[in-house]
Amino acid sequence: MSRLLAPSILSADFSRLAEDVAKVEASSGLLHVDVMDGHFVPNITLGPPVVACLKGVTALPLDCHLMIENPDRYLAAFAAAGASYLSVHQEACPHLHRTVQAIRQEGMHPGVALNPATPVETLDVILPDLDFVLVMSVNPGFGGQKFLPLALGKIRALRRAATERGLDLAIEVDGGVARETLPALLEAGADWFVAGSAIFGARDPSLAARSLREMLDA
Ligand code: DX5
Ligand code: ZN
Repeated sequence: MSRLLAPSILSADFSRLAEDVAKVEASSGLLHVDVMDGHFVPNITLGPPVVACLKGVTALPLDCHLMIENPDRYLAAFAAAGASYLSVHQEACPHLHRTVQAIRQEGMHPGVALNPATPVETLDVILPDLDFVLVMSVNPGFGGQKFLPLALGKIRALRRAATERGLDLAIEVDGGVARETLPALLEAGADWFVAGSAIFGARDPSLAARSLREMLDA
C-alpha cells in the first residue's frame, strides 16, 4: 500500500482553486474535496459543479468526502462530475451496505468515514466491501482544528483487522495532519494523509506539501 498525500482544498483560496491545486500537484497522490451540507455538519462548502471544474484542472484523482445527509441522492452526480474516490459517513447512512454497493456501481472507489466517537467495530461487516476507511481525527466541519489522538488507536485497530482478514484496505486520516502529528500516524499504520491548513495555510503551499511528502517517503 503506497502512502499518499491528499491536500484538502477546504483551506485553499476558493477564488483561485486551479492555481492552488497546481502548487501541490507534484507532491500529491489524491486531491481531497470536502463536501458539507449545513445539516450533517455545521458548515456548507461545495457540490458536484465545483468537483467538475476541479476535474478539468488537475490530473489528480478526486477524493470526495461527503459530509452530508442522504448521500445516496447525489452519488450519480459526483460520479458524473469526475469523483474517483467517494466516502460517505457511517453516521449518515442507515443502509450503509446499499450505499457502498451504489458507489461501486457508479464506478467510484467506496470508502466510509468515521466520526471521532464512532467505533471501528461498526464497520466489521462492511469492511470487505470497502476500498478505504476514512478515520476522522477532528470533528468534521472545519479545517484547522486540533488533532485528536484517539484516532491513533482506531487506525491501529483497522490496520490489524485488515491484515488479519487479508483485506486490501487503505486507511485515510483526516484532521490535524501536520509535521508534528505525522510520525504517530505513520507508526499507527495510516496510508493516505489528508492535510488542509498544514498545506494551504502555509506561506508556501508547494513547499509545505513537499515537506509532508518527504516525511511519507522516508
Ligand atoms: C474537516 C475536513 C477536513 C479538513 C481538514 O471536516 O474533513 O478534510 O479540510 O483540515 P485540517 O487539515 O486543517 O485539519
Ligand atoms: Zn475531509
